[in-house]
Amino acid sequence: MRTTPRVTRTLAVVGALTLGLAACGGDDDSSAGGSGDETITVGFVAVGPEGGWRQANEANVQDTFTEEAGFDLRYAPATNLDQRSQIDAFTSFVDEGVDVILLSATEGAGWEDSLRRAQEAEIPVILIDRGIEPDDTDLYVTRIAPDNFEVSTAVAEWAVSEFPDGANYFVLEGPAGVSVVNERNRGWDDTVGAVPGLVKTGAQTANWSTEEAKSVFETVLRANNNDIQLVFAQNDEMGLGAAIAVEEAGLTPGVDVKIATIDGTRPALEALAEGRLSFVAEYNPLFGETALEVVNQVLAGEEVEPYIVVPSEVFDSPEAATEALPTRQY
Ligand code: AHR
Repeated sequence: MRTTPRVTRTLAVVGALTLGLAACGGDDDSSAGGSGDETITVGFVAVGPEGGWRQANEANVQDTFTEEAGFDLRYAPATNLDQRSQIDAFTSFVDEGVDVILLSATEGAGWEDSLRRAQEAEIPVILIDRGIEPDDTDLYVTRIAPDNFEVSTAVAEWAVSEFPDGANYFVLEGPAGVSVVNERNRGWDDTVGAVPGLVKTGAQTANWSTEEAKSVFETVLRANNNDIQLVFAQNDEMGLGAAIAVEEAGLTPGVDVKIATIDGTRPALEALAEGRLSFVAEYNPLFGETALEVVNQVLAGEEVEPYIVVPSEVFDSPEAATEALPTRQY
């Protein structure tokens, strides 16, 4: 385990203590048994199995923080998305004295105590994808993720241009209490909410799941006599579930009901290429390299931005999807 000057960005928070520590780094080596071993231990408090995007993101992080690259990555996926299991893993990493913690929170709230403990132990915490709520940026070093507000605003702008004469729409949301869900709702509502012709018939969580989205939207179509022309699905899996529900209602996705999603996974691009989805906004999961750079910067005592935005693109036609598919990595 290597000892280095810790976390300049929270310098304001821990003040001279950090400086003091940096100054006596040598001493610290001795406390870590003076091994001088350069391997950086990284505790990854992860979400675990949750669909195509998550699988791509967590595999990319694991494929980046390798032994060859000088890292000892300890991967701790949540048990059934349960926050308690994440807090327990986080606590173990603090007790083990890892060099840095990566956190993808299954829930936004409830992290204050854990983050303070890491701070007292002077272990920098980097948020991967998910934010915390309330978003107290003094409690973590930085968040690395695409900009959810921007991504969902792009979906909303497409919807406004696609339905100049208006439409009835429904929103399939991710799980309640997850930061990205609130951020995506804000991006969508701020744009679509201002357009009188776009009428919200409702919103419901389908927990990022194709199956749940299919059954939710089947019920919604029936309850609205199929009078819905637009679906905003907060991730690809739910959008694909809505497309199946549309087909089973004897309607044609892409014609009678247009479905827009977020993530940009291969199955969604294939459905867009076939015309079953109408718009796909990428939420790029492949930012392991960015995270590695940030970890090195932080452990070297360099300043980092409080939010590092991962660039993402949009796919607004079957042609755009067909062009992207041959090289799609997830
Ligand atoms: O936090 C990102 C979201 O989590 C993705 O959009 C969704 O697919 C995943 O499960």
